[in-house]
Amino acid sequence: MLEFDFFNPVRLSFGAGRFDGLGEQAAEHGSHALLVTGRSSARKSGLLDRASKLMQDNGMKVTVFDRVEPNPTDASVDEGGELARAEGCDVVVAVGGGSTMDAAKGIAVAATHDGPVAEYLKPKDRLEPTDATLPLVCATTTSGTSSELTPFAVITVQAAKQKSAIRSDYAYPKVAIVDPELTLTCPPYVTGSTGIDVLCHSVEGYLSTSATPLTDHCAEKAMELVGEALPGAYADGSSLQHRYDLSLANVFAGYVLSNAGVTVLHALEHPISAHYPDVAHGAGLAVLMVGYAERLWEREPCKFARLAELLGRNVASLTEAEAAQQAAGAIKDLLAIVGLDIGLGELGVERDKLPTIADDTLEYMFGALGKTPGGLDRDELIELLEASF
Ligand SMILES: [Fe+2]
Repeated sequence: MLEFDFFNPVRLSFGAGRFDGLGEQAAEHGSHALLVTGRSSARKSGLLDRASKLMQDNGMKVTVFDRVEPNPTDASVDEGGELARAEGCDVVVAVGGGSTMDAAKGIAVAATHDGPVAEYLKPKDRLEPTDATLPLVCATTTSGTSSELTPFAVITVQAAKQKSAIRSDYAYPKVAIVDPELTLTCPPYVTGSTGIDVLCHSVEGYLSTSATPLTDHCAEKAMELVGEALPGAYADGSSLQHRYDLSLANVFAGYVLSNAGVTVLHALEHPISAHYPDVAHGAGLAVLMVGYAERLWEREPCKFARLAELLGRNVASLTEAEAAQQAAGAIKDLLAIVGLDIGLGELGVERDKLPTIADDTLEYMFGALGKTPGGLDRDELIELLEASF
């Protein structure tokens, strides 16, 4: 009988229309917001203006930082931190996808601590954020990274070509607004890749050596919801029901991610998109998933069998081992539906870079790698990368 802890201190505001509460929620944590968004979509969609107005209507001052790029860098986080410090912001509000929310978390640290944010991302001897970190309010516009519910801020340190993460209880947002209406305009590619990120958070957490009965329950629900709703949301982004279900999957996966962590897929993906910043996080994960299931099913056959079932395979007449071997095919079918049944080469990754990616994984993603059941050594990492090419 397993003993375990479960911790998630984030106030979740979930449902269609909940974005309207942004101003009220933010005003509980500060009077001057640094509003963090990506470079164009929030402005184009009108969400940036809407967010500003919601906060101003609640008596808040708003300073906008709209320079976050996909796979955010330490340079832009430090720039945002400088701005928050100079303007005297006392709360950071993120409106956007995972990159925006992760950058906002880094900014909340950079604005209140000495030294560049890279010091908080080093593989060893890193600085740790303190309770001086600015409070965060996150409204997610994708059903993807679950960053609004986690203590992680994934940031690429450009000089080191390392995509590492701050992991701190102080990086948990105070409030997560998960409003499925914000995801209605998500284009198909983003819907597909972020949906696969949700699937990986739930699958990896399910298989993690830190999994608990509580995270397993959340993971199973997330996997089932992704399997059911992702094809429909990809085909018809305007379906609020599908968007609602994916938003819910994203929340369940967030509780898995914040408590059970991730394993080898994320451990390999971070170095991939550190070297190739144009690779979308979910796409970098997608290319590894089939090889992962083919190689690791024997280590946790019961859970891989359940994964196959939750993704829609009829396994009733199969043995556990037979059902577990169906998982790779079930994943491959789902990837094909969302246009991500592709290889590393199609993402622009060069074959001669694979040993470097494996070495980087061992150098700075050892924490996540170590949660993989049975572990993987350098040769096994390279073999998985080769099989995913
Ligand atoms: Fe992820």
